[in-house]
Amino acid sequence: MKLTKDAIRREADETALVGGELLVFDELDSTNTYLKTHWELPDGTAVIADCQSAGRGRLSRTFLSPAGKGLYLSVLFRTPLPEDALLSLTALAGVAAARAIEDVSGLAVGIKWPNDLHLGGKKCAGILAERCVMGETSAAVVGIGINVSQTAEDFPGDLAETAVSLCAAGAEVDRAALAAALLRELDAVYARLRAGEQSAYLAEYRARCENVGREVRLLAADGTERRALVTGIDARYGLEVEIDGEREVIRTGEISLRPL
Ligand code: BTN
Repeated sequence: MKLTKDAIRREADETALVGGELLVFDELDSTNTYLKTHWELPDGTAVIADCQSAGRGRLSRTFLSPAGKGLYLSVLFRTPLPEDALLSLTALAGVAAARAIEDVSGLAVGIKWPNDLHLGGKKCAGILAERCVMGETSAAVVGIGINVSQTAEDFPGDLAETAVSLCAAGAEVDRAALAAALLRELDAVYARLRAGEQSAYLAEYRARCENVGREVRLLAADGTERRALVTGIDARYGLEVEIDGEREVIRTGEISLRPL
């Protein structure tokens, strides 16, 4: 079924800050890009596209966004946030999305640091948090992409081995209901952020994080690779690791994690 504003509105709270202004498009290049170029829009504006022609992921990756098969949603946060808040924002949006998916599907969702949501060890959703700065003013855009009804054949090449949709994991989900649940959870997150309570979701993020206790490969943007043992998540959602017996906290978004 086509994703329409009316269908989402029937389930979502119009008076909430997140999604109070809701724009739904048949197609955009990217909902994040749209908000980054329209950040004069009201605080909490949510943009949804049925399909994205240039969906973006972390580390300049592409996020495949076929029509009718996923939920592609971005929200504008205009409250000034500290420069280093993107990692917390990513983590909080991850918990919000995990809760929303569980709410409508009943599936148990895990998190792969910092921004992937997993079902049975495969990625079902990703988060991309970006900052816009103009002079003294700044804002953040958080985009969430969820694979809803793709089959294995919809994922090209090797992707079928690492990606999954909610439907393939066993849950038939109505995209409008999922969008409404996501807006509700993001509204709660934003209320906590505005109150300076970033750590409110820390215990849940830690409990959901599947990397802790595992050995991983840390791939830096320059191509260098290091083996690390993940020992925990620190109070600012950084990844605590041990490398050759030395402790380190990884915060940069320029690191990719691979299992050994
Ligand atoms: C990742 O997997 O690295 C993050 C994926 C984020 C995808 C979402 S879909 C909605 C929003 N628009 C984009 O172009 N990207 C995000």
